Amino acid sequence: MNEQQYDIGMVGLGVMGRNFVLNMADNGYSVAGLDTDPDKAKALDKESGELHVNGFTDVKEFVNSLKKPRSVIMLVPAGKAVDSVIDELVPILDKNDLIIDGGNSHFTDTERHFDELKDKGIHFMGMGISGGEKGARFGPSMMPGGTESVYDRVKPILEAAAAKVDGDPCVTFLGPRSAGHYVKMVHNGIEYAIMQILAESYQLMKDGLGMSNQQLHETYKSWNEAELDSFLVEITAEIFAKHDDKGDGWLIDKIKDSAKQKGTGKWTSQDAMELQVAVPTLDIAVAMRDLSGFKNDRKKAGDLYKLNKLQEDGTGNYKDFVGKLKNAVYFGMIASYAQGMHQLRVASDHYKFNLNLKDVARIWRGGCIIRAALLEDIRAAYDRNPDLSNLILDSKFADNLQKAQSDLRYVVSKSVEMGVPVPALSVSLGYFDAYRSSWMPANLIQAQRDDFGSHTYERVDQEGTFHSEWSKN
Ligand code: 6PG
Repeated sequence: MNEQQYDIGMVGLGVMGRNFVLNMADNGYSVAGLDTDPDKAKALDKESGELHVNGFTDVKEFVNSLKKPRSVIMLVPAGKAVDSVIDELVPILDKNDLIIDGGNSHFTDTERHFDELKDKGIHFMGMGISGGEKGARFGPSMMPGGTESVYDRVKPILEAAAAKVDGDPCVTFLGPRSAGHYVKMVHNGIEYAIMQILAESYQLMKDGLGMSNQQLHETYKSWNEAELDSFLVEITAEIFAKHDDKGDGWLIDKIKDSAKQKGTGKWTSQDAMELQVAVPTLDIAVAMRDLSGFKNDRKKAGDLYKLNKLQEDGTGNYKDFVGKLKNAVYFGMIASYAQGMHQLRVASDHYKFNLNLKDVARIWRGGCIIRAALLEDIRAAYDRNPDLSNLILDSKFADNLQKAQSDLRYVVSKSVEMGVPVPALSVSLGYFDAYRSSWMPANLIQAQRDDFGSHTYERVDQEGTFHSEWSKN
């Protein structure tokens, strides 16, 4: 075997890692893979056929096989596994080599790795990769951050492997240090929100309107053909057409109604709270996954609080309701992107990421889980105004939200009457109504704080902070 023959290395040959190796190799690059599990290294050799790829189990042989300066991507679970791979690689890498963490690492871990490796003369890039197994194989969206001149080294490989929208690769350098992992985290927060909104539309159509899985399949399929055109709506349609592979009936009806999570949505909400930027649709999506976990309690509460459930929306006009629901979902999706982008705007200032939100929207148009026709509109909005603070303030989005808001109000009020929970849809509406309020009742909150705790308040007519003795008239 010739030494130093591979363009790039991949640590972690699970399905994602293997698929990404094959993707890069398909694009003409030679790739070395490393996994301590010999079966995974062998699986790569088998799957790669004639491609210029080799699976290693020995870290030194792997490192020695790479062209210098070396570039190594790792696709291993976030947390301890990332730390231990870095610890193993660092002593055998040379100064000026590059490690890219392609997993869903917490951005604070990425900050730490970036600084620690900088001290050792090794470059580090945190790069979010979205698109699941198929994305990794045939074109993901990638969100790299770190040092731009170092990114330029791997730019041709990443651009070749990325998803393309009208020939434009869904990858670009996003900003310094952990900017890439931060953007990926917020991507996942938006992902949670849209999934929750779609789940609410499912419950409304199933419980409220009594629609069958076949009707649900057709409805989501038709939604995917118009303004809701998106990957998540597309797979939702697909899911309702899937027969149970272990018995009779539909697979969806055999799946337990308690959702799992690895935590990236929660991190998004946690950091939004730290930054004091409101992302309530994203927050409620995390909370609903949490609530779904209390299955036994929900069963008991269901017996305790029996509801006279209205079948249908009361008007008997189910097609009309589904049409309105489509617009309500569209509104909720816009609210989810608006909140996520707003968080990115605030985070960019706070962490000095210098993010270009037009670029973020551009590289989310293809390859990633939240790809949607809407992202082209979002890209265009930031093109019109790069400093746009919230999508709700863009004139085109204002038109769309105006048109959809009455349908959302109708759907939310009917859902409340029916007792079908739609927290993400209703909080999207509440967020919008608060955002468009030039006056909010926060003066009362200031007064209450001052009354019980002498926390002081500000006045509208004078500068400064004030305190009053509220019990004296
Ligand atoms: C992606 C996905 C991917 C993963 C999620 C799942 O962009 O490809 O977001 O990263 O499927 O992390 O997240 P949960 O397990 O938290 O739902």
